[in-house]
Amino acid sequence: MRIISPSILSADFGNLERDITMLDRSQAAWIHCDVMDGVFVPNISFGFPVIKPVRKATSKVLDVHLMIADPIRYVKRFVEAGADYVTFHLEAADDAGACIDAIRSAGAKVGISIKPKTDVSALNEWLPKVDLVLVMSVEPGFGGQSFIDGSLERIAAIRKAADDCGAQCLIEVDGGISTANAAEVFGAGADVLVAGSAIFGAADPEAEIVKMVEAR
Ligand code: DX5
Ligand code: ZN
Repeated sequence: MRIISPSILSADFGNLERDITMLDRSQAAWIHCDVMDGVFVPNISFGFPVIKPVRKATSKVLDVHLMIADPIRYVKRFVEAGADYVTFHLEAADDAGACIDAIRSAGAKVGISIKPKTDVSALNEWLPKVDLVLVMSVEPGFGGQSFIDGSLERIAAIRKAADDCGAQCLIEVDGGISTANAAEVFGAGADVLVAGSAIFGAADPEAEIVKMVEAR
């Protein structure tokens, strides 16, 4: 599968409806919403008041990436705000199993994410229980950073672990993705690529999305 999930962290929030309308007609199948609390990561982004109108403005899959401490407190509200996938960080959850159950019982698909320094083997027990694994290829918190060397090997290792246990989860990669590396990230085993600055910084964002989908 080759899905592009543009991150609206790099959108123009003064013209958000315009940018969502552009994504809605683009070849991106998903829209990625980065929620940051200033505690789990050293930055604050946006929450429910932004996600609700985005939901109203598009029929694309809303891919909500929670970079917040103790995520179980808020997962139900993100589902109510319109998230199709709610992804939490393994490092932020006291009880990942309970968080998975809370997202699923609220009616959304479940994603689990790890930061670049977390051992990929920490995911093994969760692979059969989630719909999505989000592999961070930069330290979470900011757009516009460079793809960390060694991320391709991590993606391949997670792909192998998922295949070995028969897990059906999609693998999503987030951070430093552009047309320059999209082909090799897909090649390493990713199904979904998040890209923020590479898409919104392009002269023609819709054309950039097509180039990523078709990258060889
Ligand atoms: C970083 C966020 C990313 C970010 C990616 O913490 O999770 O989704 O928007 O931005 P780029 O594509 O610019 O690296
Ligand atoms: Zn993200």
